[in-house]
Amino acid sequence: MSKYQIAVIVGSLRQESFNRQLANAIVKLAPDEFSFKQAEIGDLPLYNQDDDAQQAESVKRFKSEILAADGLLFVTPEYNRSVPGVLKNALDHASRPYGESVWKDKPAGVLGVSIGAIGTAMAQQHLRNMLAYLDVPTLGQPEAFIQATDELFEADGQIGSGSKDFLQLWMKQYAAWVKRHCE
Ligand SMILES: Cc1cc2nc3c(=O)[nH]c(=O)nc-3n(C[C@H](O)[C@H](O)[C@H](O)COP(=O)(O)O)c2cc1C
Repeated sequence: MSKYQIAVIVGSLRQESFNRQLANAIVKLAPDEFSFKQAEIGDLPLYNQDDDAQQAESVKRFKSEILAADGLLFVTPEYNRSVPGVLKNALDHASRPYGESVWKDKPAGVLGVSIGAIGTAMAQQHLRNMLAYLDVPTLGQPEAFIQATDELFEADGQIGSGSKDFLQLWMKQYAAWVKRHCE
């Protein structure tokens, strides 16, 4: 079993999501002592505070996956200059009931790919704002604002040569960040 278990949270439910492709590809650049598992957010109900005392099974499952993880990897699109509602919904669910948030102290990294030129910069900044409030220590540098181009992925889904060195560096810094927070 790998030493560091990472929960991957993808902010898109789309079948052919670029962000899911990026998540699947970047984890292959990680050191051997890391393993990654996607925490599904598509089956979470819309958050309703009335349900705090009896959270849905999918919410309990999601919270337990976050709780069990040593670190978090967010890979999200930008929707209307912020994060998609499904990602905000997941953040809210796992922060409640009051006093029972599972986010606190989980080291995190934030990545995103979009077809727009600013490559999810605004969405990532909004996400960082929420993560700061939730006491999630988040890797600051390097920032990774990835634009979806035809060359971003190879035919086999690996990261293309134009972005590989940068994303390898990103992963190196992320791994070091997680390890530092797990000491
Ligand atoms: C509701 C909606 C809002 C969007 N808003 C933005 C945006 O603010 N900035 C941007 O760069 N792209 C925006 N896009 C385009 C997304 O970058 C593009 O759909 C991308 O493929 C979504 O990520 P995915 O492939 O992982 O699903 C938007 C797309 C949708 C569906």
